[in-house]
Amino acid sequence: MTSTLDINGKAVVVKAAPETPLLWVLRDELGLTGTKFGCGMAQCGACTVHVNGDPVRSCVTPIEALAGAKIATIESLGGTHPLQQAWVKHDVPQCGYCQSGQIMSAAALLAAAKSPSDQDIDNAMSGNICRCGAYQRIRAAIKDAAGLTAAPVVAAPAAKPVASNDVDDEIAAASGSTSRGVGQ
Ligand code: FES
Ligand code: FES
Repeated sequence: MTSTLDINGKAVVVKAAPETPLLWVLRDELGLTGTKFGCGMAQCGACTVHVNGDPVRSCVTPIEALAGAKIATIESLGGTHPLQQAWVKHDVPQCGYCQSGQIMSAAALLAAAKSPSDQDIDNAMSGNICRCGAYQRIRAAIKDAAGLTAAPVVAAPAAKPVASNDVDDEIAAASGSTSRGVGQ
């Protein structure tokens, strides 16, 4: 038995059983490996694609539920989408594993809300987990892509250089001696 799916604007015939999650059809049958497997339980967002414009977890969506639906994957953005450009500009990814899902959720948000508020962003992105903690850069990139002022990511202040005598003094203070007269 075969099924026909509308993926990235093309009608695609697939052989997978109807109950097969879309994620495995994308990755294993069609070679669209930009969509990632994280948890397999709709908990992490790594597998996010669009179905009729809405962000959907492909790991728990059987293809039998997608007849007539328009499916879009990260490959549909083509690498030049404003979000992808903003992602590069803000150096968002760390390990990168969550990022295609993050971008797909953000793309659905911007398609629905041209000027999302911080709350809109939080609501839209709350289901996408980033184990590397890139959340500040993700938010900045979304705002940039939306044409909003992106809050700069604040770097941690540089550590104050410590003179070697200061270290000696701290050690000495802790031991009850002076740095220049330890043991005297
Ligand atoms: S792999 Fe689908 S939500 Fe985690
Ligand atoms: S960049 Fe590593 S999980 Fe998000």
